[in-house]
Amino acid sequence: MTLTAADRTVALSALLRSGSQAEHTAAESSSFMSELLAGGVDEAGYAHYLGLLRRVYEALEQVAWELSDDPIAAAVIDPAIERLAAIDADLAHWGRTDVASPAADAYVARIHETTGWGALFVAHHYTRYLGDLSGGQAIGRILTREFDLDGAGVAFYDFSAVSKPKLYKDAYRARLDALELDDSERARVLAEVKDVFRLNGGLFAELTGHLESYRR
Ligand code: HEM
Repeated sequence: MTLTAADRTVALSALLRSGSQAEHTAAESSSFMSELLAGGVDEAGYAHYLGLLRRVYEALEQVAWELSDDPIAAAVIDPAIERLAAIDADLAHWGRTDVASPAADAYVARIHETTGWGALFVAHHYTRYLGDLSGGQAIGRILTREFDLDGAGVAFYDFSAVSKPKLYKDAYRARLDALELDDSERARVLAEVKDVFRLNGGLFAELTGHLESYRR
């Protein structure tokens, strides 16, 4: 993949955002997500989703630890936004089930492959955590309303360790933009971000396959 002349001049954060818009739209419009946001998925379905995310964050946070001295990965790694403990707290509410998942297996394997070059890890980190700090906030509000929750079960969406998600995201983008990557490296990071969206799409596809049994 090569960058267009326009892509070569934009900041990395803008390149990643605009370059993955189509993939974002596809993820947003997956049947599982649409049903979840419409209140059509029951507790077992949400527990299944969270169980898959647990696999992803366990790998992300393990690799973050392994890459803590990597100068590129260090631009994004931040224990304050890690999600594994929050997911475990939520699973205690929804019920934990370990479901076999080829899609999660593939996603986790790919995360572990990023240890060779910190910028690939940045692509994985950006796609999950910036998403959680963005649209994820709306998902948390919808779950709270649909399941009449009083705070239990939605720790995943709670970033109170970060003062304001908007300011955090701005600072995060500034750190991305300060990375010194050449054009082919930027193109490689964008390609990885697109693949990360597809890997998330793989999780949604599995979940969609179970939608009938999760209707509420
Ligand atoms: C129904 C599900 C989703 C909704 C409603 C949603 C909504 C949004 C919204 C409104 C924003 C823009 C926030 C802003 O301008 O700051 C955003 C950003 C983002 N979302 Fe999502 N999203 C969803 C699913 C996903 C998924 C599944 C992923 C990836 C796994 C994802 C990754 C991202 C990323 C990386 C950003 C940041 C883009 C950037 O500013 O660079 N989103 N999302």
